[in-house]
Amino acid sequence: MFSRFVSTTVSTSVSMRSASFSSSSAVSQEANLKLGRLNHVAIAVPDLNEAAALYRNLGASVSAPQDLPEHGVTTIFVNLENTKLELLHPFGDNSPIQNFLAKKPGGGVHHLCYEVDDIYKAIAEVKAKGFQLLDKEPKIGAHGKPVVFIHPKSVNGVLTELEQA
Ligand code: CO
Repeated sequence: MFSRFVSTTVSTSVSMRSASFSSSSAVSQEANLKLGRLNHVAIAVPDLNEAAALYRNLGASVSAPQDLPEHGVTTIFVNLENTKLELLHPFGDNSPIQNFLAKKPGGGVHHLCYEVDDIYKAIAEVKAKGFQLLDKEPKIGAHGKPVVFIHPKSVNGVLTELEQA
C-alpha cells in the first residue's frame, strides 16, 4: 500500500511539472470550457414581415418584432422545440448587420450562439487556445446576458457567440 501511494505521488508531481512548461496543456487540465446548448441561430433578413410570414407559413411560433436600439437591430424570435431563431433586421444607421446585408442582400445565417457556464472563464480559455475574439470584455447581449463573439476566421467562417447561461 505504502509503495503504491509513493508512486502515485511521484507521477502526479511529474505531470504537474510538465504541464507548467506549456500553457495550453495547463489550460486543458482545468477543462472549464464546455459548449452548452445551442441558444439561438441568428438570421439576417432584408424584410422582417416577409421573414415572419415565411416562418409562420412553415408552422413555427413567431414573436412580435422587438426594437433593440442599443444593438442596432430589430428582432423577431422564432421559437422551436429545442432552440430558437432570431431574425435580425438593421435598426438605425450604424447597425452591425448592415454590412452583412450589403454583401448578402437576400439575407443569410449571421451567427450561432452557444451557452457557457461562466463567460469570463470561457473568454480566458478560448483566448489561450488561440481563438480570435471580437471583444476583449463581455458585452450585454440581446437577452440581457453577458456575451462574447469569436471571429469567424477562427471557427470555419461562422461568427460564433458565447452567452452566459
Ligand atoms: Co445572438
